[in-house]
Amino acid sequence: MNKGLCNWRLFSLFGMMALLLAGCGKPFLSTLQPAGEVADMQYSLMLLSTSIMVLVIVVVAIIFVYVVIRFRRRKGEENKIPKQVEGSHKLEIIWTVIPIILLLILAVPTVLTTFKLADVKAMNDKKRDKNTVVVNVRANQYWWEFEYPDYGIITSQDLVVPTNEKVYFNLIASDVKHSFWIPAVGGKMDTNTDNKNQFWLVFDQKATDKAGGVFYGKCAELCGPSHALMDFKVRPLPRDQFDAWVKKMQNAKKPVVTDPVAKEGEAIFNKSCIGCHAVTPLDKRPAQARTAPNLADFGDRERIAGILEHNEENLKKWLRDPNSVKPGNKMAGTYGHLTEEQIDALTKYLMSLKVE
Ligand code: CUA
Repeated sequence: MNKGLCNWRLFSLFGMMALLLAGCGKPFLSTLQPAGEVADMQYSLMLLSTSIMVLVIVVVAIIFVYVVIRFRRRKGEENKIPKQVEGSHKLEIIWTVIPIILLLILAVPTVLTTFKLADVKAMNDKKRDKNTVVVNVRANQYWWEFEYPDYGIITSQDLVVPTNEKVYFNLIASDVKHSFWIPAVGGKMDTNTDNKNQFWLVFDQKATDKAGGVFYGKCAELCGPSHALMDFKVRPLPRDQFDAWVKKMQNAKKPVVTDPVAKEGEAIFNKSCIGCHAVTPLDKRPAQARTAPNLADFGDRERIAGILEHNEENLKKWLRDPNSVKPGNKMAGTYGHLTEEQIDALTKYLMSLKVE
């Protein structure tokens, strides 16, 4: 083949790979840019295990190349058999002891870290400190609910947490198995239907600033056709701002709508949507009855349906045909056909639902 063409192909292949990998390195999404204590510990373990693996590969490759060259069949020595060493005590001991040492180097920090990450005593203490933040995460096809049991508030899709302190999570699922993962901050852990998993995370303030104030959260367990679209966003706030947010959520009254178009939307909402969706953060219904995201702070959200950019056009697209955005979601088919006028009215109403 023409050498220039071959070089060009190689060059573009590497270029494409570099671009693709660059997409993985965003501070709001990358496990390689740890954004808190848990992510730091997990990153150190990754580095340690990767270094050991690379060391083993390099040493084995060097020995392999050496043996191939040193003991190759030479001209004139076709029948020469090198010295046989099977059963050599020295060699057997070397290649038994070295892996044991490597495994110990790997095992000790891994076990220690595992216990540290699993330490959720503080959240299960009956007399726990009022400032310990606990969030009940309930995963659903394909949305996330975040309940703050100590504050009596419920929100969904956008998780709000304080920075630079441990935040504890109770993880459950309402339908099938999902997995709660904030790649830059740590995890992941399964959300199951039959038991509660618990863990904690720390959201570093500096890393939050670097990430632009928002981390991406993902579902990390194949859970249906829209698994890859089951995203959520995390907004870590300094403690005082977090407290202010909690106060605002606790004081949020039933939304008061004045705009006539939004009022029309409210009427449609109260007829068709309220059975599943709540519009105040103080939702007293039991979990089984909360079959759709709480929309109290819908107007403040980062995304429509967890994935689309937050604007009216995308909200209309979602209301018109939810299945075109998230195939297999449970909202599709639960309400009759909406006219464009009704969609406009609902959009006005939903966008006016703000807490902040
Ligand atoms: Cu939920 Cu994947």
